[in-house]
Amino acid sequence: MNGHIPVMLPEVCGILEGIPAIRVVVDATLGFGGYSEAILSKWQKVAVIGLDQDPQAIESARRRLLSFGDRFRAVHGNFRDLSMILDEAGVSAPDAVIFDLGISSMQVDTPDRGFSFQENGPLDMRMDNADDHQMMAADIVNTYSMRDLIRIFRVYGEESFAAQIARGIVRYRERVGPIAQTETLVTVIRETLPAPVQRKMGRNPSRKIFQALRIAVNDELEALENALNECEEIAVNRMAVVVVSYHSLEDRIVKKKFRDWNSTGKGVLPFRRPLVPGPEELEENWRSRSAKLRAFHFQGDMPGGKRK
Ligand SMILES: C[S@@+](CC[C@H](N)C(=O)[O-])C[C@H]1O[C@@H](n2cnc3c(N)ncnc32)[C@H](O)[C@@H]1O
Repeated sequence: MNGHIPVMLPEVCGILEGIPAIRVVVDATLGFGGYSEAILSKWQKVAVIGLDQDPQAIESARRRLLSFGDRFRAVHGNFRDLSMILDEAGVSAPDAVIFDLGISSMQVDTPDRGFSFQENGPLDMRMDNADDHQMMAADIVNTYSMRDLIRIFRVYGEESFAAQIARGIVRYRERVGPIAQTETLVTVIRETLPAPVQRKMGRNPSRKIFQALRIAVNDELEALENALNECEEIAVNRMAVVVVSYHSLEDRIVKKKFRDWNSTGKGVLPFRRPLVPGPEELEENWRSRSAKLRAFHFQGDMPGGKRK
């Protein structure tokens, strides 16, 4: 399994460098532990609490970062419950909360998880695959109405051929039966779109559909919105929030929230336009191509904040 190359790591560390007497950092999307490892190595007195909803990510990061002893803790959970998770872990007033959204290469590179349109696997796509009650991509593909499929593909996938693809899926369901494997979905999408359309689309025509399904399965936009609200709740002291996002809808949520906080006097934006990866990083790490980094510094002692 490939490691995950942390995206915009120097920029993330640059923001943490601006925090005086930094002690506790929450890595809200632990993944492979790339950010956590760098932070623990760079700041010898800092403790990191890493959060991930993926039990496999928790396990592998725990093993990988064992040498940092009790300066590192990994907790399984969804960042939408940030405040409760930190309460339960006995962490109060962290100095920074970092989000690196989306999926890790560990997840994409494991065909069994169903995130990849390049390899065959079950249509799962749950980041928390220990949660038996959560719906999977197959549930959406096989039970949603054509209208709902179009909406998901259009909104979350920003896919211009959403209607054609949804129609193709519904037709396949009616004629053949449920779609259980990623490979079948990829074939249905390919067979639905005429060759000239596929050529016009450039990349694999399944890419945006897989992204849309993943966002829907994991309720990613709602979780992000909740998590930012939770940050506001826990930010009684000075606290930085750093978000690296990969999708325009995510970035819009972050941009709006940070500007609202700024205009209501909760803190400052170190920069108004998002940071993006430089040419060297783009060359080294293809995954960074759509990354946008935004940050916010809470000023502390806000009215209505939850004091610990
Ligand atoms: C892009 S990876 C993070 C990579 C990490 N920064 C690194 O350098 O190794 C995103 C991780 O966030 C996790 N994740 C996504 N949404 C989450 C949520 N709502 N709650 C907790 N973890 C989440 C995913 O399971 C994935 O492991």
